[in-house]
Amino acid sequence: MLIEDTPDVRTTLIHRADSPGGQWWRSAVIYQVYPRSFADSGGDGIGDLPGITARLGHLSRLGVDAVWLSPFYTSPQHDAGYDVADYRQVDPLFGTLEDADALLARARTLGLRVLVDLVPNHTSDEHAWFRAALPAPAGSPERARYIFRDGRGPDGAEAPNNWRSVFGGPAWTRVADADGTPGQWYLHLFDVHQPDLNWENEEVRAEFEAILRFWLDRGVDGFRVDVAHGLVKDQGFEDWAGHAEMIAGDDAGEEGVGPAPMWDQPGVHDIYRRWHEVLASYDGDRALVAEAWADTDEAMARYIRPDEMHQAFNFDFLCTEWSAPALKDSITEGLAACDSVGAPTTWVLSNHDVVRATSRLGLPATGKGPNGIGADDPQPDAELGARRARAAALLMFALPGSAYIYQGEELGLPEHTALPGDVRQDPAFWRSGYTEKGRDGCRVPLPWEADAPAFGFSPTGASWLPQPTAWAGFALDAQKGVAGSSYELFRKALRLRREFDLGTGSLAWVDGTWGPEQGLLVFTNRQVIVAVNLSDGPIPLPDGLDVILASGELRGELGHQALPADTAVWAVLED
Ligand code: GLC
Repeated sequence: MLIEDTPDVRTTLIHRADSPGGQWWRSAVIYQVYPRSFADSGGDGIGDLPGITARLGHLSRLGVDAVWLSPFYTSPQHDAGYDVADYRQVDPLFGTLEDADALLARARTLGLRVLVDLVPNHTSDEHAWFRAALPAPAGSPERARYIFRDGRGPDGAEAPNNWRSVFGGPAWTRVADADGTPGQWYLHLFDVHQPDLNWENEEVRAEFEAILRFWLDRGVDGFRVDVAHGLVKDQGFEDWAGHAEMIAGDDAGEEGVGPAPMWDQPGVHDIYRRWHEVLASYDGDRALVAEAWADTDEAMARYIRPDEMHQAFNFDFLCTEWSAPALKDSITEGLAACDSVGAPTTWVLSNHDVVRATSRLGLPATGKGPNGIGADDPQPDAELGARRARAAALLMFALPGSAYIYQGEELGLPEHTALPGDVRQDPAFWRSGYTEKGRDGCRVPLPWEADAPAFGFSPTGASWLPQPTAWAGFALDAQKGVAGSSYELFRKALRLRREFDLGTGSLAWVDGTWGPEQGLLVFTNRQVIVAVNLSDGPIPLPDGLDVILASGELRGELGHQALPADTAVWAVLED
């Protein structure tokens, strides 16, 4: 009943294969390293660049094409490095510039590309520019690099408008003038320690182009661009009825809520056209990846028009509930939007900002999930989440385009769902008045060795966030060579993805007696047939299929096998 030549089966081609010889990023599998939590060589409990370099072999054996490093620059770490004080220097926590060079050299030897994170929406309040802005008078060139405004009301004691920080609380903070009297306010869409830059100012634009060149000259293959949809603000700075906490302005369009004045402004695209030119002046297909939480697929696709960035994270896929019709729509629309601008789609299930897919998919309400989980919150069904996450990974790796793996995803690592409040460090935790648990649960240091201190994360056993004792079972060395382990499943999936060229492949939906309405997703990519069972029970597999990869054990005898619920298979037609 699943195969194309069964009488009542329809196939609908929705995406054609790329022509051969395209750029590497069109089909790359990119692995996100979160430096604090990957591997600690120094023993202080915080991961570092030499630790990453020493473990790069793991990534090449896993079979990824590229690594994206979250920020390792000089930073007071108020938002885990997304508050940058010097864009051209490595924070001593993580190492030195020489360590960064050594990492790049080792990656090159292993054939891995390296993307680094660029944080252009805001700097740290310890950046030399912000330090110079504070004592400078209103209207000075030093203040013009940021968004300073007079307050409203008597004595300017009220914030310039009602915008809220993404992390909770107001988005404006008042500063004192040189003589100590209360002065202007500055905008920070995130933490108070992350003042927003003024992208209307040509000096800011020129500085970031110089920063791009600094890292391109050192040999990076490109950048993941943080909050790419936030740089340009509507210059009216009017009150807004929506919740800026919703980073995509998700409630824009609701009754009485106009478009978000701080997100996805048309002017932002000029910046990326200029950056495109900068990258194009270098050899080697360097790439820009947008973190743009846009409202629609079409809005997301505007960031990857041919003269802008090269990829954008497809967050719609990440946020889609675990349901066959919803996933089918998301995949179809994501591919159509990217095809309309000639860009590849990306597929992503986890990152350092969301509850890990293994836990998210075990919650009663799937989709984007809560902002963190604590011991007093409803706990995910671990077994269900793990089963679904394995199926979701096989779905993701079989789709044409580029796919992202968040560190630990290959180990099937769950979220830490019971971190005590006193160890949490995400500013969203305290800024929301402790109503949001925040993102620490997906940032816990990785387990490498079941029997070593801190599971091999650090030589001393130190770990900046505590690792659950159950993580011994998830350690890399407990999974290597173990048939059916998450690590071996990922490795095999990536090997077959390469062998069948699925990343540059095609996608045709196969619908018949069974289809998305019955909880079954079936498609072909080149000669591989992919089936994912999102229904509540097993579904018989037709004869004539040669299963080459399965996310879980199939039921029944060979030839009369059934695909259990929350399981995915890749198959080819028997000769
Ligand atoms: C992005 C990052 C997130 C950070 C925020 C502010 O969303 O992924 O971790 O907190 O930007 O820089």
